[in-house]
Amino acid sequence: MRHALPARLLAIALTAATGTAAAAEGNAEDGRVKAYTCAGCHGIEGYRNAYPSYRVPKIYGQHYEYLVAALNAYRSGERNHPTMRAQGESLSDQDIADLARFLAGAPAPAAQ
Ligand code: HEC
Repeated sequence: MRHALPARLLAIALTAATGTAAAAEGNAEDGRVKAYTCAGCHGIEGYRNAYPSYRVPKIYGQHYEYLVAALNAYRSGERNHPTMRAQGESLSDQDIADLARFLAGAPAPAAQ
């Protein structure tokens, strides 16, 4: 079950949250800009990628800590999904904090 978080992920979230002060906070406005590419997949109506066809989870409005943990897990490869791994690899701690801060407070974007 995707939403049952293993304790290890939670530990990563806590580690991330106690990192540098700036990264721990996250800036929603910066996150909004950085999340532009994410909406290409996560903003699709019905949350299904068109081709190849796979389900894309909702990321808007999820908890900040969960989003940080998930993005850290993709970046480290602990959560091994090729698509999101590629997304996560380029993110800095600050990017993750900003993205999570923005996404946690954001409604789903209108279908494009
Ligand atoms: C090319 C399509 C694509 C792009 C672009 C993309 N994602 Fe994803 N994302 C996915 C897919 C597919 C999954 C489901 C992966 C899985 O099952 O682990 C996912 C999963 C996630 C999850 C985990 C959600 C959950 O409920 O556990 C988060 C968080 C996330 N993405 C954030 C982002 C962020 C932030 C960006 C932009 C930096 C982004 N994604 C860009 C396709 C994409």
